[in-house]
Amino acid sequence: MPKKLIQESLKIQKQLIKRIKSCKKPYMIKVEDKEIIILPKVFPPATDSILLVKTVKFKSRDVVLDACSGSGIYTIFAGDKAKKIIATDISKYAVKNIRDNVKLHNLEDKVTVIQSDIFPKSKIKFDIILINPPYTDKKAKDVVEKTVWDEGHKTVNKFFQSAKQFLKENGKIYLSWANFADLSFIENLAKKAGYEIKRVAKATKNNRVYIIYEIKSRRLRHTTR
Ligand SMILES: C[S@@+](CC[C@H](N)C(=O)[O-])C[C@H]1O[C@@H](n2cnc3c(N)ncnc32)[C@H](O)[C@@H]1O
Repeated sequence: MPKKLIQESLKIQKQLIKRIKSCKKPYMIKVEDKEIIILPKVFPPATDSILLVKTVKFKSRDVVLDACSGSGIYTIFAGDKAKKIIATDISKYAVKNIRDNVKLHNLEDKVTVIQSDIFPKSKIKFDIILINPPYTDKKAKDVVEKTVWDEGHKTVNKFFQSAKQFLKENGKIYLSWANFADLSFIENLAKKAGYEIKRVAKATKNNRVYIIYEIKSRRLRHTTR
């Protein structure tokens, strides 16, 4: 990976962290046709978040996990169609933010919001799992830095170890990743953990490339003699 791209991306992440930390009041943004509240200390939807929103289509029977939910943007878009949604985030500020957006969009009946490390405690199975995790292997000192940095890539490592247990037989994962965090890293991580992974959408911003991956659990092939 070009050193310049990594340095530029780190600079942009530092600017984003500074911007999030300087925000002292809730504010509204508009994504497509929807108003989304953003609270202080919470990640505001970015290029990759919006690309994922445009890529994933939900069915009325879908049970959805929105992991690393942030403001809850995916939950709000899934809420138009899906049957049931569980949204998780490690940050208490994000959890409050998701709840505020769920209330604003009258989705209380179908959404459960949980403060947790990626997955819910219950062993529920999902048709669709959505995740825009922190991309960069760097120590995070606080809840805001944790939105983009994750030392040792703990979040995605844990995600691929356990996601299979939470997927229905034909369930699909949609995960975003970026070239400055090494696309081959995430593709190899998924393959080694027993998943099929393919690129389904792409957005480019200057030198940065964002990819949405569709990921399925690899089926065991039974051989007959
Ligand atoms: C890049 S933001 C994405 C937020 C939102 N999905 C979006 O696209 O706008 C990553 C989010 O993951 C959360 N997070 C980081 N580590 C986590 C973990 N281990 N479990 C759950 N959430 C985590 C952060 O608090 C942050 O809200």
